Amino acid sequence: MSPAKVALGRRLFYDPRLSGNATQSCSSCHQQARAFTDGRAQAIGSTGQIHPRSAMSLANVAFSATLTWTDPSVRSLERQAAVPMRNRHPVEMGLTGHEREVLARIQHVPLYGELFREAFPGSRSPITFEHIQKAIASFERTILSGDSAYDRFVWSDDRSTMSDSSRRGMALFFSERLLCSRCHSGFTFSGPAVWQGGPRAAPGFADNGLAMHAAGRSLTRETPRKTESGLSRVPTLRNIAMTGPYMHDGRFASLGDVIDHYARGGVSRSTRSPLVAGFSLTQQEKQDLVAFLESLTDADFLADPRLSDPWQADDPSCPPGLPRTKAPKIRTKG
Ligand code: HEC
Ligand code: HEC
Repeated sequence: MSPAKVALGRRLFYDPRLSGNATQSCSSCHQQARAFTDGRAQAIGSTGQIHPRSAMSLANVAFSATLTWTDPSVRSLERQAAVPMRNRHPVEMGLTGHEREVLARIQHVPLYGELFREAFPGSRSPITFEHIQKAIASFERTILSGDSAYDRFVWSDDRSTMSDSSRRGMALFFSERLLCSRCHSGFTFSGPAVWQGGPRAAPGFADNGLAMHAAGRSLTRETPRKTESGLSRVPTLRNIAMTGPYMHDGRFASLGDVIDHYARGGVSRSTRSPLVAGFSLTQQEKQDLVAFLESLTDADFLADPRLSDPWQADDPSCPPGLPRTKAPKIRTKG
């Protein structure tokens, strides 16, 4: 990583020129104010296709042992970045078949000439997809969230940051009665974390007892060879109050609905984790647990200017997500 790669990656992350029809950037589905999710149950790609799953938060994604909800084989951010760009089923950014046009659009912007040279010195023609992926991954590694009311409570002497209710909720979350923290563990609240030089960690996949959809939109049907029925990556709970609707297909509208699901214990089947067995909570306890989850919101992160749209920063009159420099017309053959 270098500051130049991060600066370039941030431009690219927010640039719709990277999609086939120049309408969608990474930030269309990963919006900072929503902790890098999109507020939809299921994402919608650049050609209008509905993605079977919900856009995931990118908070602390650098520490994830595996990426995406269901695929245990995606382990590097460099490799993952190619997936939304090139996917055909479903189409996200729809770059496949438009590679030359997209590179031409990028080459046309003088600022990119500078930024690519600075990020990849020594390379004679630095504007390549490999470098695009590397730069985006570098930017993603700076998407770090760790300054919520909960963190201030834990790491500072200031005990006033959490309300009594959220402190009671915290005790419930970490209790042997509810067992939430057995899966949503560690500083990412997402299970095992990995970092360079750190211990090896097995990725956290679990079946938390969600009912399969009648339409067959189950994880099994979509990725038959990749995961067993019902298994999903344990997602982060940081900034969870900002990232609804919840679960891989956005089936629950509120945190209250999520807690009701765990209280019922979900669907009983062989893969369901024994940690999801159901429990009963009073109304007050449920409110307390929601208050604790809300205390994981990191307001500075959601508004951190280093993570914001740099095109808009250049020109505040420019609408969010749209670069100021107009993309050239897409040339047709002949
Ligand atoms: C059309 C909406 C959409 C666009 C555009 C999009 N994503 Fe995503 N992103 C998703 C969805 C949906 C998932 C979950 C995918 C899955 O589980 O199959 C996801 C997952 C991810 C993850 C995994 C996060 C984790 O915690 O495991 C990363 C990283 C990511 N996207 C980065 C990017 C980058 C970089 C771009 C731009 C090159 C991008 N995304 C563009 C919708 C989108
Ligand atoms: C057995 C491991 C396990 C336990 C125990 C567990 N979870 Fe989860 N949690 C998961 C998995 C896996 C998912 C994603 C499931 C999916 O969408 O397919 C998830 C999803 C969630 C989500 C939605 C996240 C999002 O981004 O949409 C919330 C909120 C949540 N859990 C809170 C809790 C709370 C609160 C408890 C305790 C009452 C709890 N979890 C206990 C594994 C677990």
